[in-house]
Order: sequence, then structure tokens, then C-alpha cells
Amino acid sequence: MLRVGVIGAGQIGSAIAKALAGSGKYRVIASRRNIESIKDLERLGVDLTTDNRRVAGASDAVFLAVKPNKVSLVLREVSDLLDGKLLISVAAAIPTSRLGSLAPRAKIIRAMPNVGLIVKAGFTAYCRGPNITESDVKVVQELLGELGAYIEVDEDLMDAITALSGSGPAYVALLIEAMAYAGLKVGLPRDLAYRSSAYTVYGTAKLMLETGLHPSTIKEMVLTPGGTTIEGIFYLEEGGVRTAVMKAVEAATKRAREIAEKLNSSI
Ligand SMILES: NC(=O)c1ccc[n+]([C@@H]2O[C@H](COP(=O)([O-])OP(=O)(O)OC[C@H]3O[C@@H](n4cnc5c(N)ncnc54)[C@H](OP(=O)(O)O)[C@@H]3O)[C@@H](O)[C@H]2O)c1
Repeated sequence: MLRVGVIGAGQIGSAIAKALAGSGKYRVIASRRNIESIKDLERLGVDLTTDNRRVAGASDAVFLAVKPNKVSLVLREVSDLLDGKLLISVAAAIPTSRLGSLAPRAKIIRAMPNVGLIVKAGFTAYCRGPNITESDVKVVQELLGELGAYIEVDEDLMDAITALSGSGPAYVALLIEAMAYAGLKVGLPRDLAYRSSAYTVYGTAKLMLETGLHPSTIKEMVLTPGGTTIEGIFYLEEGGVRTAVMKAVEAATKRAREIAEKLNSSI
């Protein structure tokens, strides 16, 4: 059984530990400083510790899920125990070159998941770093498959991915909230407003992914000439929703690049 470690079992790291332990396919050990707050993971068989070196030493593959500004500190602490092991960093903005210089003999993958992984509906883009072989990639894909969908990309796309699918749950949550507020405005009960908005986003995404239909085709399926939907669409277009989303992702990508530059020049 592959032994998987998670260093930095916070929001993302503990969800990774939970999904992998819950699959029954991996032996999982996870660390953070305050392990009391994630004691429930023990019920799934996750071995919890405050000792990052114990995690690195006891694992064949290690997920690094601390905040980007802690990556150097943690890798300096454990790098001698990572020789020949898989190191999968989910930290935003830290390039594989930097990871490779901190853990020169580790097999490195940089990944960008999103919070959908908490319910195994994540989307993770990953890129290859130093020392990775084809057989390592297969192992990585099996691991990421437990968290939802995944795709391999070139590293120069990672900042844009961070801005789109990494940050994306926040944009979609805002949209769901806006739709729910709209529901409240036209008199729907609160619970119905939120549930109908969330299910509408979920169902539309599922429809697109499972049928391959283009979003514009899905839109056409709902539009009747002179009907209610075109009335709503008119105001969304007037409000510039499309441009606002494009500007938001463009600005977030720029910010991801700025953060990357700042972090990588200061460490
Ligand atoms: N949140 C997202 O939507 C998202 C999406 C994609 C990628 N990411 C990336 O995932 C990483 C984690 O993000 P997050 O949102 O899960 O943050 P988080 O909840 O703050 O998790 C980070 C964890 O690291 C632990 N930690 C801090 N110092 C440590 C140390 N020296 N040794 C071991 N553990 C330590 C912290 O716990 P203690 O204080 O108890 O040690 C904390 O729980 C980040 O690098 C982020 O860029 C996040």
C-alpha cells in the first residue's frame, strides 16, 4: 500500500488526507502544528503528528499543503528525507524550479486544486517538475483522481489556472449568492432561493461536462423568443457580467504573477 504524507493539513491538506484515507487505497500520515483541530481524521485511519520529519520519513509520496510563505521553511526542514520520493506541492505561486532547489532529489509535481476536492469534485491542474518519470505521473494521476478531475498543463499556465479554477469557487459562490438574492427579491423563501441557485449551477455544469454541449447551446436551449429568459439575459448583458468575469480572472492572474515574483525573490 502506497504511504502518502500530507504536510500542512489545513483546509486543502486535511481534505486530501481525508479523501485518500477514505479510498482505502493508501496509508496516510498528516501533520500540522495544531492537530487537535483535525482529530476527526483519525477515525478514517489517518496518522496525525506535529512532526513534519516523521511524515516525510514515513511516506512514499508527500503532499505539501502549507501556505506559500511557509514552503521554504518546511522543505528545508524535511528535504533530506525526500530523496527519490514524490513531492506534490499544492502551494500557489511556488514554481517547480524553486521546489527543486529546496528538495533537489525529490520527484516534483506542482498542482493547483480547488476546494471542490472537499466533496471529491475538485479540479486539479498539475505540471511536471524535476526528476519525474512516466511511472511517477501514473501514481500522481491515481492520487489526484481521488480528489476529482485533473489535467496536466505546462507550468506557464499555472498562474492563470490559479486565477480561474483555483479561485473560481469564490466567483461561482458569488454568482450563486447573487441568484439567491434575486430569488429573495422576487419572493422565494430563503432556503428555496439558495438551493435552487446552487442546483442550477451544479446541473448546468454537469450538463455541459457530460454532453459536451457548448455553453451557448445550453443558453439557446432555454431561450424562447419574447420569453422570460431573454428578458433576464438582456439585463445580464447590460450589466456587463461577461466583461466583469473576464476582468476578474485577468486581474487575479496578474496578482498571482505579482505574488509569485515577490515570494520567489524574497526566499
Ligand atoms: N484554499 C484554497 O482554495 C486553495 C486552492 C488551491 C491551492 N491552495 C494552496 O493550498 C495551500 C494550503 O491552503 P489552505 O487554504 O488549506 O490553507 P490553511 O487552511 O491555512 O492550511 C495550511 C496549514 O498549514 C499548517 N502549517 C503552518 N505551518 C506549518 C508547519 N511549519 N508545519 C506543518 N504545518 C504547518 C497550518 O496549521 P497549523 O497552524 O496548525 O500548523 C494550516 O492548517 C496553500 O499553499 C494554497 O496556496 C489553496
